[in-house]
Amino acid sequence: MAQPLFFLVLVLAFVGSVTDAAVVEHTFRVGNVRVRRQCKNRVITAVNGQLPGPTIYAHEGDTVIVHVINESPYDMSIHWHGILQLLTAWADGPNMITQCPIRPGKSYTYKFNIIGQEGTLWWHAHVSSLRATVHGALIILPREGPKAYPFPQPYKEVPILLGEWWNANVVQVENKALATGLQPNKSDAFTINGRLGDLYRCSDKHTYKLDVEYGKTYLLRIINAAVNNQLFFKMAGHSFTVVAVDAGYTVPYPTDVLVLAPGQTVDALVVANAPPSRYYMAARAYISSPPPLQPFDDTTTTGIVRYKSAMPSSARPAMPLMPDYTDTPTAHQFYTSLTGLLKPGWPTVPLHVDEHMFVTFGLGTVPCRRDQPRCTQGALAASMNNVSFEFPTQTSLLEAHFKGVKGIYTRDFPDRPPLVFDFTNKNLSTNRALMFTSKGTKLKKVKYNATVEIVLQNTAIIGTENHPLHLHGFNFFVLAQGFGNFDWETAVQSYNLVHPQMRNTIAVPTGGWAVIRFVANNPGIWFMHCHLDVHLPWGLGMAFEVENGPTPDSTLPPPPPDFPQC
Ligand code: C2O
Repeated sequence: MAQPLFFLVLVLAFVGSVTDAAVVEHTFRVGNVRVRRQCKNRVITAVNGQLPGPTIYAHEGDTVIVHVINESPYDMSIHWHGILQLLTAWADGPNMITQCPIRPGKSYTYKFNIIGQEGTLWWHAHVSSLRATVHGALIILPREGPKAYPFPQPYKEVPILLGEWWNANVVQVENKALATGLQPNKSDAFTINGRLGDLYRCSDKHTYKLDVEYGKTYLLRIINAAVNNQLFFKMAGHSFTVVAVDAGYTVPYPTDVLVLAPGQTVDALVVANAPPSRYYMAARAYISSPPPLQPFDDTTTTGIVRYKSAMPSSARPAMPLMPDYTDTPTAHQFYTSLTGLLKPGWPTVPLHVDEHMFVTFGLGTVPCRRDQPRCTQGALAASMNNVSFEFPTQTSLLEAHFKGVKGIYTRDFPDRPPLVFDFTNKNLSTNRALMFTSKGTKLKKVKYNATVEIVLQNTAIIGTENHPLHLHGFNFFVLAQGFGNFDWETAVQSYNLVHPQMRNTIAVPTGGWAVIRFVANNPGIWFMHCHLDVHLPWGLGMAFEVENGPTPDSTLPPPPPDFPQC
């Protein structure tokens, strides 16, 4: 008699654990597909033939398994941008940092758990410039579902991926720039959910549409998947309430304009309470460098919000008034007004610091190579603390770290810049003594669980601009930001040690600085780099080597059996 009851209890326990933590499994076939845009045929690399690629929906606590099959002619790797990858550094994805690429014809299964994070993230190729078209949303719901949001449950949720479009092959664009040592070509258009919008040639039908019902609230999960451009985003006749950025909840912040740097995400509530009609949503570039400007993509992408109850009309939808391309005050206002939402049980800013770093970064030059005939003044480069990051070619950093392979990297990434000068003084922009940088693969080693504080200081060398710095493997708290040179005495008074915003990508103000803090609670190799793709091969990056902790629970396990070989 006791047996059936025992069995029932077992079944219930099993069902219970399944709803607690599920396995979310996808197969990504990466391959070249033909598309037609702006009346031109193009071949792009995409996942499952889709642009943007498939959206991954998961709940906090789930396990994600993605089988990546590389049917493209390029080396491939996929990064799960913002996923903490606790003890799964092997699945992080950056090419030659945590793995060798998946060669054409090969495959690799990424497997990781989603622990202690909720909100909007995304995935993208992390090799060459392929993320231009190899990307998609990764959305993490609370374990208990949308009813557990710390804001009123929306009627519907809508992923909005902002992208950049090239009429040329993006890999060729990058290779040409690297071969000449010069700036790459600019993009030809921007996109909303892969669509250009009807302000572009031949694109009337190629416009994203969002149908809304009057009076309902929508949660837009906006992702800047563009390669080299920060973007302003607005919606005519509507305003937003920001409730999260980079998968970290914020104190609700009302605004009618959003700004996102490449890599960043914003979750914003929109109430459909305008007179029922049609309205444009639009995105265009925020250019953070002062004039005279380099040529930039000055086009605008649009989508159309359509009220279901609106009368049919052939009139053009209302267009939002976009900020000027160079409206740094508006961008700065947005970036610095956000604060984190304190939620019981979620991480708060650590108050004790173990490692203090001061890291300057920006552009520079390295000597021209003999195979760069058009290069005369030195090839463009970028650096952090005057080290221009060089990717290893034989073995990934993580494998070298795990197996103790010598000669792949050194542990001498400096805690301070080699020279203190007036970092943001534009008169020093072309100072030859300051411009030259040298290459190296230098890492910063930190102890497990150490709290690291970094002052990120932009320089004015060659040019001044806002660089979005992204840290893999951790969320960090943004304590303060400002323009000019960082000055500890004044800056420390503005530190938010109560409810700072938590991010994985910080748009460091143009000609300015930001202070971030994180706890190195995840053993492995973690890349930190500029998320403007053009600056990555130039060397605007470094990596942390985080040691194992004292227990099996804080020790990086070995790589999976199908781990790509170099
Ligand atoms: Cu979203 Cu290392 O990148």
